[in-house]
Amino acid sequence: MIIAIDGPAGSGKSTIANLIADRLKFDKLDTGAMYRTVAFVCASSGIDLDDEKAVTARANDLTITFDTIDGVQHVFADGKDVSREIRTPETDRIVSKVSAYPDVRKALLRCQRHFAATRNVVAEGRDIGTVVFPQAEVKVFLTADPRERARRRVLQRLGDTQLDQTEIDALVEKTLADIERRDDLDSHRAVAPLRAADDAYHIDSSSQSIEAVCDKICALVKQVS
Ligand code: DC
Repeated sequence: MIIAIDGPAGSGKSTIANLIADRLKFDKLDTGAMYRTVAFVCASSGIDLDDEKAVTARANDLTITFDTIDGVQHVFADGKDVSREIRTPETDRIVSKVSAYPDVRKALLRCQRHFAATRNVVAEGRDIGTVVFPQAEVKVFLTADPRERARRRVLQRLGDTQLDQTEIDALVEKTLADIERRDDLDSHRAVAPLRAADDAYHIDSSSQSIEAVCDKICALVKQVS
């Protein structure tokens, strides 16, 4: 079975997909992490991100794998753990460029389908229900108010770092601008843009608990099992 969760940046896809995977004993496929890995590997090895051919060539010969360490899924690029490096504001800023290249998408699409060929998967991204797994048994389109998404992203990245409210507010404003820019690029690209599948179930997580959203998705899974 495949559960597809699509939605914009910061809508809670990763948190929800993790919980669902734990509850149902499914494997999680974080496709955003794959695009982030390509962007990070290219940028850190000096490849010009405007050079579509060079980026595509690197994406084609890159091996991306996942492994769970202490209950947390880690991402590896040719065997090197890049989980921390792919979740920085720098990678946030460059990933939409790389993910708009059609042949980069083709390369990752192959890996994504291969990953799900032999197991039950919760896959999260932007085009899971529309392009990667249009046959998914359950499709969810997860949204949340942009400011709430920015606030969540800031708090998630701050972790234990203590800041006063003024500093947090300034970070939220900056993150909101970055998120809106990325949503715009991801929604308006020519290939596989961020879009809800016609048969997706829409959930707005702005004012719902994570548990409530998970309960809804698990109920949908029950209906089709
Ligand atoms: O979900 P995320 O923020 O980690 O995704 C990072 C970027 O990757 C996102 O801005 C667009 C791209 N992406 C994509 O184009 N298609 C997907 N299925 C998943 C992510």
